[in-house]
Amino acid sequence: MLITRHAEARAVLADPRYVPPPVRQDGREGTLAWLRAHVSRFSTGETHAARRHLVVERLAALDPAELRTAARAMTLERDGEWRGVPTAVLGTALGVKDTSAVAAAASGYLSGEESPEADAAVAELLGLTDLPAVTLLLQGHAATEALIDNALQHAAARPGAPGDAPGPAEPGADVEALLRETLRQDPPLKATRRLDTRTGDEVTIDLVAANRDPDVFAEPGRFDPARGDTPHLTFGYGVRPCPAPAHALALAAGVLEAVLTASLRSPGDGAHSLHGGSHR
Ligand code: HEM
Repeated sequence: MLITRHAEARAVLADPRYVPPPVRQDGREGTLAWLRAHVSRFSTGETHAARRHLVVERLAALDPAELRTAARAMTLERDGEWRGVPTAVLGTALGVKDTSAVAAAASGYLSGEESPEADAAVAELLGLTDLPAVTLLLQGHAATEALIDNALQHAAARPGAPGDAPGPAEPGADVEALLRETLRQDPPLKATRRLDTRTGDEVTIDLVAANRDPDVFAEPGRFDPARGDTPHLTFGYGVRPCPAPAHALALAAGVLEAVLTASLRSPGDGAHSLHGGSHR
């Protein structure tokens, strides 16, 4: 069954009778399959609650404002080459100095697609740190980079689009507005799946469609950073939402601040805002 309406999506995500489709439990220790069998993301009930508690505890020790500053600084240091920055910053904050194995380990994390490369990368990460830290690095990696990619595309498509209201004077506030609307319109994760434990049916929740439900969002097809906070479902909802929206936003905002400030600076003219800088 495919769910496209916002209200229905929320009802399923809030109902504990819908669980993530089970993953194989017989993977050899230290492999991708073993990892997937041991993280909160694919577990249910009390096991899920206990594993989720461990990652939430670890996240509580991280300050999103510091992540943002560090992501901005590292992006500037790397002359705008931002790929790998969110994960490196998160890794440093978690005490993991080398995050070069994260991309390979993350590639099959959600899909379950196993490979010798992914297994080797998981083993390497487990040799560097513990399971909650590996979970955070793998969960955050692809989604945060996809969010940045999508936001940069929107920024490029509409630098100072005519008719835009001047942005708020607070520095960085326009980056946040861009990110929030990107999250609604172009979620990095397009869908999530559940198993109905009563019927055995699989349910796919189309997050793109739910985020454009006309019953909830006026002119849902229009990209409008001035919407402010919206009830988008990009970070999930209900029983197991993403525990790290503030961290993800901070990492992405730090990178964007660095990339966009540099790319919008024109000689002799100072830094422009995303909306063209007319209000500065
Ligand atoms: C834009 C970036 C991100 C997006 C869109 C996103 C989205 C999501 C969503 C939708 C879920 C729930 C999946 C479901 O209900 O089926 C989730 C779970 C999770 N996310 Fe994120 N996430 C992002 C970044 C991050 C980052 C940076 C971290 C870590 C610092 C993180 C950690 C987690 C964890 C640990 C879970 C599993 C929660 C649980 O099992 O209860 N996410 N994320």
